[in-house]
Amino acid sequence: EKGGYDHFMLKEIHEQPKAYRDTMLGRIDASGKKVVLPELKLTDEQIKNITNIHIVACGTAYHAGLVGGSVIEQLVRIPVTFDVASEYRYRSPLITPQTLVIVVSQSGETADTLAALREAHDNGAHVIAITNVVGSSIARDADDVIATLAGPEIAVASTKAYSSQLIAFYLFALHMAQVRGTQTEAEVAHIIAAMQALPEQVEKMLENTDSIKTYAEEISKHDHLFFIGRGMDYAVVQEGSLKLKEISYIHSEAYAAGELKHGTLALIEEGIPVIALLTQEHVLEKTVSNIKEVKARGGAVMAITYDEHVPNLLKSVDQALAIPKTLPILSAALSVVPLQMLAYYASLARGLDVDKPRNLAKSVTVE
Ligand code: M6R
Repeated sequence: EKGGYDHFMLKEIHEQPKAYRDTMLGRIDASGKKVVLPELKLTDEQIKNITNIHIVACGTAYHAGLVGGSVIEQLVRIPVTFDVASEYRYRSPLITPQTLVIVVSQSGETADTLAALREAHDNGAHVIAITNVVGSSIARDADDVIATLAGPEIAVASTKAYSSQLIAFYLFALHMAQVRGTQTEAEVAHIIAAMQALPEQVEKMLENTDSIKTYAEEISKHDHLFFIGRGMDYAVVQEGSLKLKEISYIHSEAYAAGELKHGTLALIEEGIPVIALLTQEHVLEKTVSNIKEVKARGGAVMAITYDEHVPNLLKSVDQALAIPKTLPILSAALSVVPLQMLAYYASLARGLDVDKPRNLAKSVTVE
């Protein structure tokens, strides 16, 4: 049942290239220049009238929403806000019939997310569910479903569901950009081509994970560590930090790199591991400055970045790991993979139950 893998999590990490391909299948037209989402009931007219978007989800699905929402903002220029579902309905969110609400849920059964969906409906919003289970409660209640085709996810730690949620967001953002005319046909085609390269790039990354394993064994001896990043990298390190906490029980925090010096820098002491993700090139130098602040206090920094930046970065960090290059808006679909592997190997190194971490359930059907 684990298909030759030691754990479901490892199997599911390796299924990501297929999940990407399956989620894109039939949603890109034959010319490769256009996204088509025939399943959507949301009309072009409605898309043109959307004034704002709320993205609501829990845990890993929320983290996918953070990435997806910022892709929408960049490509479509519609304001997006993000909420964890357990907060959403209790803060009286400003929902109007022109608000599009996107809920994200692998299982489609998360109680908090379902309640948020109902809150959105009560206020007249159109709700799109991005989910992996088309027969689920959330899929049934939503006005529209964009299905992720990741296949069943068994490990409690979500991996391929997260990354195929990203693909669903990219497709939907492109669809909206086409309808609202915010990206040219050439720009859309360029992004689609880069998306189609993602599955092979993930395969390549998974061919050799020895250095991540070695690093995971190192950090498994620590009780605290930090992740830093800016922009989309900040969103991805939040997911990396959750994954690590969930299955290795190592305490970690993900910080917006520029925010460290507003308090958290006080916790940086000799030898504490800090993992910095640097794929967003417009802010790369800014993150490098933050890395220098960490180094000056004795932190041990591992940088995850594109090949071309490794030589230069090695002047400021202790170690670096290269990932394949893609467009800035797509980087999460690649950069999350070493973070998943890091959590996996750290859990293994600590001799823990990778697929069934303590205190957690796969699907959280209570509030
Ligand atoms: O099924 P859902 O996507 O709604 O689940 C949401 C969270 O409970 C889930 O992503 C959780 O955070 C994962 N165990 C994280 O790996």
